Amino acid sequence: MRKLDINSKGHLCFGGADTVELAEKYGTPLYVVDEKQIIGRCREIKECFLDKYDNANAVYASKALQTVDICRIVTEEGLGLDTVSGGEIYTAIKAGVDTAKIIFHGNNKTADEIRFAVENNVGRFVADNEYELHLIDGIAKEAGKTVRVQLRITPGVDSHTHQYISTGGIDSKFGISPVRSERNRIIKYAMDSESIELTGFHFHVGSQLQKNDSHLMALEIILRLIKEIRSELGFVPTELNLGGGFGVRYVDGEITVKLRDFTDPMMERINSFCKTEGISLPEVFIEPGRWISANAGITLYTVGSIKEIPEIKTYLAVDGGMPDNPRHILYQAEYEAVVANKASIPAGKEVSVVGKCCESGDVLIEKIGVADTVQSGDILCVFSTGAYNYSMASNYNRIPRPALVMVKDGKDRLSVRRETWEDMITREIL
Ligand SMILES: Cc1ncc(COP(=O)(O)O)c(C=O)c1O
Repeated sequence: MRKLDINSKGHLCFGGADTVELAEKYGTPLYVVDEKQIIGRCREIKECFLDKYDNANAVYASKALQTVDICRIVTEEGLGLDTVSGGEIYTAIKAGVDTAKIIFHGNNKTADEIRFAVENNVGRFVADNEYELHLIDGIAKEAGKTVRVQLRITPGVDSHTHQYISTGGIDSKFGISPVRSERNRIIKYAMDSESIELTGFHFHVGSQLQKNDSHLMALEIILRLIKEIRSELGFVPTELNLGGGFGVRYVDGEITVKLRDFTDPMMERINSFCKTEGISLPEVFIEPGRWISANAGITLYTVGSIKEIPEIKTYLAVDGGMPDNPRHILYQAEYEAVVANKASIPAGKEVSVVGKCCESGDVLIEKIGVADTVQSGDILCVFSTGAYNYSMASNYNRIPRPALVMVKDGKDRLSVRRETWEDMITREIL
């Protein structure tokens, strides 16, 4: 059961702020992000990983939720940034992030994006494939620079998550095959290049993982590969990147995992491997995204039409939907919600929360109990929308993207203004 913070008016509070007042002040749909929760997660990473281990490094996977504000907050807390496009790097630069702390990911970086990253001295590239490695090499050479590169290896591990967020299987579009002839050719190329400083390897098994077994299995595979490569090519990595994927609680039955339950056994294993092999401990990276931002965000909607189909179901339609949160239609993600202005009224009515788009699949929550007095005009709060919502939002049906408000200790400030109809045609040649 989710614990709710309810004030004397019976309104739901989040980050110390009255959510009903936020909805009145900024309109709906509205993303609300609690700065303190983001900072809290960053500090937990510092305590249980960065300060605990020598050579530990954490980068926030900013694809989860990227704004100038968020980039600034997480980097001020001592994390680096994982980016996957020129646009994400551009945003980070606008936030004043030290580019040396940026890692550039992606499975098909364009030449323009790589050039932009090289010109701006981005700290590390994670090369996903041979084509990309050659492209990075050529562009760095042209610029007369040497760039640091980690190679992304497909560990061939099936993670227990939805297939669209499982990335470590052998059939994945991501990463270099661990097959000897192929990986050795690619590693050798990187070792021989004068424009590339090959630092090591990266893997990412998938997202929203509730258990550490896939990470541990993938680590074993990478350590075996490191051992083989050392004897076959004489290469010893100075960096090892364990990716992200640490799960959070969206609904009952799920947990927000303890990061140390993943990092402690992995660090123990890496340390013992290095001792046995007689090699120095590499710099070890993690890339949490959702774990930092998901639970720190909520979305507020206004309830519109309520359609009761006797003995079948009741549809509760809100003024947003798949454009601001496509996760249900993408991978049947589940959420919890409460009527924010009736937060102390017990959930006595079962509804399907749907959006306003011309798609039957435009569903936010298939089935949830809400206050039985729910009516049009009420404010509905959907929880744990801080990751892969704002960053995945679209303008489907020409619906403007919501504003994003940051709250901290009861104080609110507008971080991203609401998109307008005019914004949506600014790129059109009239
Ligand atoms: C390479 C890489 N690192 C980190 C992440 C972050 O994953 P999560 O938000 O589940 O921590 C992703 C997510 O897709 C990823 O592809």
